[in-house]
Amino acid sequence: MPLPVPVLPEGVDPAWLPVEALRPLGVRRTLIRGSGPLVDTVHGEVADACGRFGGKVVRGEEGAARGAPDGARYDLLLEVSAAEGLGAEGFAFGRDGGTTTVTASGPHGLLYGLFHVVRLGAAAFAGPVAREEHRPATALRMLDHWDNVSVHPVMGQVERGYAGGSLFWRDGRARGEAERVRAYGRLLAAVGINAVAVNNVNVREAETRLLTERLGEVAGLAEALRPYGIRTHLSVNFAAPMLLDGLPTADPLDTGVRAWWAGAVRRVYAAIPDFGGFVVKADSEGEPGPFAYGRSHADGANMLAAALAPYGGTVHWRAFVYDHRQDWRDRGTDRARAAHDHFAPLDGEFAGNAVLQVKHGPMDFQVREPVSPVLGAMPRTRLAVEVQATQEYTGQQRHVCWLGPMWSEVLRFRTDGAAGPSVAESARGGIVAVSNVGDDPFWTGHPLAQANLHTFGRLAWRPDADPCDVLDEWIGLTFPGAPARLADGLRAVLRGSWRTYEKYTAPLGVGFMVQPGHHYGPGVDGYEYSRWGTYHFADRDGVGVDRSAATGTGYAAQYAKAWAEVYESVDSCPDELLLFFHHVPYGHVLHSGKTVIQHIYDTHFEGVEEAEEARRVWAGLGDLVEPARHARVAERYEEQVRCAREWRDQVNSYFLRKSGVPDGQGRLIH
Ligand code: GCU
Repeated sequence: MPLPVPVLPEGVDPAWLPVEALRPLGVRRTLIRGSGPLVDTVHGEVADACGRFGGKVVRGEEGAARGAPDGARYDLLLEVSAAEGLGAEGFAFGRDGGTTTVTASGPHGLLYGLFHVVRLGAAAFAGPVAREEHRPATALRMLDHWDNVSVHPVMGQVERGYAGGSLFWRDGRARGEAERVRAYGRLLAAVGINAVAVNNVNVREAETRLLTERLGEVAGLAEALRPYGIRTHLSVNFAAPMLLDGLPTADPLDTGVRAWWAGAVRRVYAAIPDFGGFVVKADSEGEPGPFAYGRSHADGANMLAAALAPYGGTVHWRAFVYDHRQDWRDRGTDRARAAHDHFAPLDGEFAGNAVLQVKHGPMDFQVREPVSPVLGAMPRTRLAVEVQATQEYTGQQRHVCWLGPMWSEVLRFRTDGAAGPSVAESARGGIVAVSNVGDDPFWTGHPLAQANLHTFGRLAWRPDADPCDVLDEWIGLTFPGAPARLADGLRAVLRGSWRTYEKYTAPLGVGFMVQPGHHYGPGVDGYEYSRWGTYHFADRDGVGVDRSAATGTGYAAQYAKAWAEVYESVDSCPDELLLFFHHVPYGHVLHSGKTVIQHIYDTHFEGVEEAEEARRVWAGLGDLVEPARHARVAERYEEQVRCAREWRDQVNSYFLRKSGVPDGQGRLIH
């Protein structure tokens, strides 16, 4: 039986699945062979498209003889064939003799094959195409929602959320809007995402109870996401046995604690048989963890892994562990070192179903960071890399900042130097993003931030894809039939937007300089004298953090030799990371030929000019974009330009006053 396609609530944007995107499929004859719930989803998709555009869909059973049961010719064959050996999610695509064929070894592969056809559009039905095999680079492509069940007094419904409320929770309870959640699952499946964690990594009281008496609410979400091949995960509180059942300890080696978790997990799987597993933030920014009992993070993770193992579940243990009560006067402690210091010695100690989830950089999702050295230091551990789609430090979905190029750089980075594996290859445990989605009608607040969500999914599936091709694909789907002027305009405002943002914010990899707490807008010394370990050390002579092994914190030596050497020396360190690794005088000359101080001035002027130019380009597209979308973006460009000017003026004035070095071009600096 075909499963009906979810109906979007009135006014909700279809994002990259507008009805038109399914027209090429919907005008044709399709034969589907296979059985089971996901094949019913595929059938529902094709039936819906055919209902709109006049095509026809016929369903046959898996393994049936070739040819449609009704003997007619068909344009598209979607079939499950166990013999294929393409893995659970892979599929083969080809076109021959007027028929396009998608063959998958299993129903998940068929679903991804269907969306491959949708993404290709008319091209899926043109010319012969030799058989291509498609498989995801990693089995886990996940979104972590930092959604709270109860509204947090400071963080709100969604921690670091810039797209309205949560799709899942409102005012302390599940929203119960299964249709919208299913529609969300559909969008995610269309870009290859297959796992969602439904609550914030900071697990407060109400959220702790999702594991036990409120499990039914999680099961409701799992039911809505399941038809699109998405497994549900839960963030859990390490101290749950104490908080929920008054156990005297949460010691991971205590038999009572282990039995408690085993029981909790058994009940979870009784309610959600395909449950994905747990996400855990332990001993991090005040969350409870194994350190309280003198145990290691491997002990903590393995205890949960043991509880999950009988059911095929996974624990995602986050490596974001550092001293968040640092004394700014203490130059010996370097937050960047922390994850490697804590975790690298534990390589080989984690259970097979424990994944260590590592932020892509050593600090915290800044606009520019080096790749975390942990990603190259734990070959005997299943690692996942975590990026941040929600734009906490990259303009909070008020600024356009398409992160595709950054993620692509991270995923392609070779941790051993030129020859070794890429981050994507090392991340055998998965590729994860903190979600940028909320209940906003455009899903992501800023309509153009949809491109980040789409790009994340596509790069998680294929990390070596060219992000600009992915962007073009997003443009083609979201704006079907876009005239060249619109497509060019979208490219112009998106492609370089990450670098534009970098130009007008913290320079040369130094990071932060944001307003404390909410992290929006400039605050050059916002974090300079605080406990968070995020300093730039600017004084009258220079700026930057000496992380060399010779004279600094030694962080540079956490990399494999090839990179350690590159970063160790001011001469070989790439310009964009110079102030991350070195403290240099303002007159230091970059590889670009400019001094550091002139680079700061120039990039801040340029960044604002680029933001102004993007605003102008967008204004010129008014006749080609629906009014609501155009107005929403135009309004946000006003804010982006205002904020970019504020960044320019505060950063430039700060460094002029500190250094006393005038701008070589004599521009007005306040
Ligand atoms: C950042 C962010 C927090 C979040 C944390 C994490 O520090 O500001 O809101 O909880 O990352 O990743 O755990």
